[in-house]
Amino acid sequence: MTTPEEIKKGLAGVVVDYTAVSKVNPETNSLLYRGYPVQDLAANKSFEEVALLLWTGELPSQSELTEFTAFERANRALDPRVKAAIDLLPADCHPMDVGRTAVSVIGANHPEAGNSSPEAELLKAKELFAAFPAVVAYDQRRRRGLEIVAPREDLDYSSNFLWMTFGEEAAPEVVDAFRVSMVLYAEHSFNASTFTARVITSTLSDLHSAVTGAIGALKGPLHGGANEAVMHTFTEIGINKDESREDAAKRAKAWMVEALAAKKKVMGFGHRVYKHGDSRVPTMKAALDRMIEHYDRHEILGLYDGLEAAMDEAKSIKPNLDYPAGPTYHLMGFDTEMFTPIFIAARITGWTSHIFEQRAANALIRPLSAYNGSEQRAL
Ligand code: SDX
Repeated sequence: MTTPEEIKKGLAGVVVDYTAVSKVNPETNSLLYRGYPVQDLAANKSFEEVALLLWTGELPSQSELTEFTAFERANRALDPRVKAAIDLLPADCHPMDVGRTAVSVIGANHPEAGNSSPEAELLKAKELFAAFPAVVAYDQRRRRGLEIVAPREDLDYSSNFLWMTFGEEAAPEVVDAFRVSMVLYAEHSFNASTFTARVITSTLSDLHSAVTGAIGALKGPLHGGANEAVMHTFTEIGINKDESREDAAKRAKAWMVEALAAKKKVMGFGHRVYKHGDSRVPTMKAALDRMIEHYDRHEILGLYDGLEAAMDEAKSIKPNLDYPAGPTYHLMGFDTEMFTPIFIAARITGWTSHIFEQRAANALIRPLSAYNGSEQRAL
């Protein structure tokens, strides 16, 4: 008879497999991608280099990077079949549904649909990496009634992502903050969406099905959808560009006290693994601080500080990556609903790295359950 203690709800604290892709260490509050501290990668490497590191286990040589960069730049354009599918969706449907649909359409049209050689599978990941920014950019523009903007091969990944979205070249500091967010969002071991991708892969289903399923998991506000939810909190409190940082902080504190008194879960705070703060937050917060200076929006900092202080005071719960990421994307000009699709674009690298790892040493993922329903009975 299974005892309640034997049930590990949410698989909390359960180690289910090895991974060499990343190491999340709550004791030291650190995160390594293939052995490199994520802070070092965010400070020194392009998102293209980090993608190759996650997929192959090593940082690329100059010739490997040149080859991948050329491939990525040549495969950015929105596939007309994907555009036609997106155009069938309501302009106000959630952008995560657009992202999920786009990957599904790419998979359904892929000449190597199903499982193929490791080289062909890696090519699928690189194609998704290159193609997804155009999906996000097109959806952001159609929601605003704007025409599609073609990619530019003279811009790097992050610059082109912003170019296709806003139809103008972003300032270097904005591009860099965006690049930092992509590096930080890329990978995080067995989070819910990555584990979903591994479960799907463990049945020997295909890469596009695994990524489509992972997108479904990421959409939830307890996971990737938290960055969007953070901005809804800021909007609910009220954003007033003319308000002082101090006054904004005061209002934010009052909001948090009331929310916690009402037993609300405030998105952007807490983490299943990190219990003393998310290792990525200081790097993402520094990027947010640079955006606040760039756009001169100090009331945003007031809201950020006020909420954080009140949560810390009441429950000692620290922010997670989604907390600074949300307002950063807001300042860059993205609609709130577009934040989690940006997370998809980054996490495609982590998800596909885990898909390869799962397939290389596979076992069908099928846990047990303890039955607590009706005893056997006659009709
Ligand atoms: C991501 O796993 C990953 O690695 C994910 C991720 C990645 O890179 O892939 O890091 C990305 O998903 C970050 C997390 C984004 N989610 C949110 O911001 C949603 C809000 N956070 C919470 O829902 C919560 O912190 C979780 C879901 C993230 C983790 O929750 P746990 O570990 O299951 O813990 P819990 O929900 O049981 O909370 C423990 C206690 C509870 O208090 P009591 O009921 O016991 O009194 O802490 C409280 C909770 O109420 N609590 C919160 C809270 N988070 C925890 N209370 C208010 N607001 C919160 N955000």
